[in-house]
Amino acid sequence: MTDALPSTGVHVSVDATDASATAAKMILDLVRSKPNAVLGLATGSTPTKVYQYLIRNQEFDPIDWSYVTTFNLDEYVGLTPDHPQSFHSFMRAELFEGLNLTEDQYHLPPGVHDDLASAAAEYESSILRSGGIDLQILGIGENGHIAFNEPGSAGDSRTRVLDLTENTINANARFFESPGDVPRTAITMGIGTILEAKQILLLAFGQRKAQAVKDSIEADVSKYCPASFLQSHPNVTFLLDEDAASLLNR
Ligand code: PGA
Repeated sequence: MTDALPSTGVHVSVDATDASATAAKMILDLVRSKPNAVLGLATGSTPTKVYQYLIRNQEFDPIDWSYVTTFNLDEYVGLTPDHPQSFHSFMRAELFEGLNLTEDQYHLPPGVHDDLASAAAEYESSILRSGGIDLQILGIGENGHIAFNEPGSAGDSRTRVLDLTENTINANARFFESPGDVPRTAITMGIGTILEAKQILLLAFGQRKAQAVKDSIEADVSKYCPASFLQSHPNVTFLLDEDAASLLNR
């Protein structure tokens, strides 16, 4: 595990394992210094090693997670919390059960609700009531999306329902039996919601993320690369492996 923690900017690790260890250490340091920290969490392949580190850490250097609150970025519309492919199920299996988080500690936007627009507004309110997100973990899509904010999303967008692009549906098909099973709409925190987090940690691994990473960091801010809006945030750290960083001017 890297000893010195990275500050704002771009940090290239030897591999995803090393970058994930660094991210986990940043989260653990935050929770140690602020036991009632509010964490913003992400699903997908990218953060899974970070979550494994956090769970494993409980075996040799346990910390008290009972005052921590978490908010996830997004959920598929139409999937109930107990649906095996829902992000609720993913988070319970990958993190919440391992840390013994209780249901009142974690929050995800609902995938099923008779009024999704009010549920989205209520999600924003519950983040505000918690005091706001201290540290937001993000992955990035091959198309530059953050959470499910697809290209074209406004920089001040809030939690809402939106249509997924074919690119995202195909990228996520691996989690489903067939591409036809992938929901076509999602409820997601907006870019404006994400930018209100006090600190943001974006992880990206692999060659297929390299162009999106380059566009986020080196291109002009544009709604065609939603992650480029992160350039306006004062405390963002990109934790990359060599492949994801391979197109950066360095
Ligand atoms: P991944 O997804 O971690 O599964 O690559 C990231 C994303 O789409 O935001």
